[in-house]
Amino acid sequence: MSHEPRAVSWTGTALSLLDQTALPRTVRRLDVRDVDTLVDAIVRLAVRGAPAIGVAGAYGVALAVAQARRENWTDRELADAVARLRAARPTAVNLAVCVDRAAARIPEGLDAVLAEADAVVRQDLAANRAMAEAGADWLLKRVDADRPLRILTHCNTGALATAGVGTALGVIRELHARGLLETVYVDETRPLLQGARLTAWELAQEGIPHRVQVDAAAAATVVGGLVDAAIVGADRITRNGDTANKTGTLGIALACAHAGLPFMVAAPTSTLDLATAKGASIRIEQRGEEEVLNLTAGAVTAPDGTRTRAHNPAFDVTPGTLVTALVTERGVLEVAAGELPGDHWN
Ligand code: MRU
Repeated sequence: MSHEPRAVSWTGTALSLLDQTALPRTVRRLDVRDVDTLVDAIVRLAVRGAPAIGVAGAYGVALAVAQARRENWTDRELADAVARLRAARPTAVNLAVCVDRAAARIPEGLDAVLAEADAVVRQDLAANRAMAEAGADWLLKRVDADRPLRILTHCNTGALATAGVGTALGVIRELHARGLLETVYVDETRPLLQGARLTAWELAQEGIPHRVQVDAAAAATVVGGLVDAAIVGADRITRNGDTANKTGTLGIALACAHAGLPFMVAAPTSTLDLATAKGASIRIEQRGEEEVLNLTAGAVTAPDGTRTRAHNPAFDVTPGTLVTALVTERGVLEVAAGELPGDHWN
């Protein structure tokens, strides 16, 4: 079952996106009918999260095919539009993979491209469900507490970031559904506040207990024993288990290693990048300095002299050795224990 409202849906003539830049204050949808508007929506994070931009990218190829017909594009123009879509954001591997999948069907026509995009959605939905169950089972066994669990999470990995219940947030939803979740510590996730704006919005809608904390509080929350485990998603996982995810993830993994707590990564196999050996080769998206130097409400926080001095990597890389468990739709790998790579990856 998908979660409503859906982050991305195909209306038959347009791609409908829940505008995540406006949440939580305003719930509005954007109807996208051309490739460059979609590229802009992906760059602005109106649609975001690795699996969701993969879904948007796959339907984006359908938009490109329809636009090519409408505007009498040459094959070259169509190929360029698909390339712009594929490159809209560099770190999450899902975007390029899903665009390539859909683009491979272009010679068969628009219906075939749409069928491929629909398949991407179906597979993500099923993967979400499988990860939620496998992740919850593993955690309950590993933590072995005779009380509901307290979990820390970072960024947004829920229905807004996927086609289903989410990756890390799917595991959290499953614990809640089983009556085995006490509360969630949600990192606000500077600078764009995906945790405070989006994860808290999803949890509040379902009455799942949670507290939002500043990112800087995460290490002490882990080391101070306020949580039993941390669960995050991923944008790209290399062959050795190194994991790119929202900036701030590495610090949580280090705190968990120090505290001896499980650090779980939940991601579908579509997020694995087996062609890349290690995390140091992952291209980390650098975003605009204004995101760091202004609060999202528009107030400038830094002095004038700092106006062009921000460092704004959107992601960081957590070494595979710090990942206690990697949950995919195929089950759980204990990465830090050296259980890599195995058939799981094939
Ligand atoms: O910049 P964003 O909001 O797209 O970053 C999203 C994340 O880092 C998520 O943790 C990741 O994509 C996994 S979403 C299931």
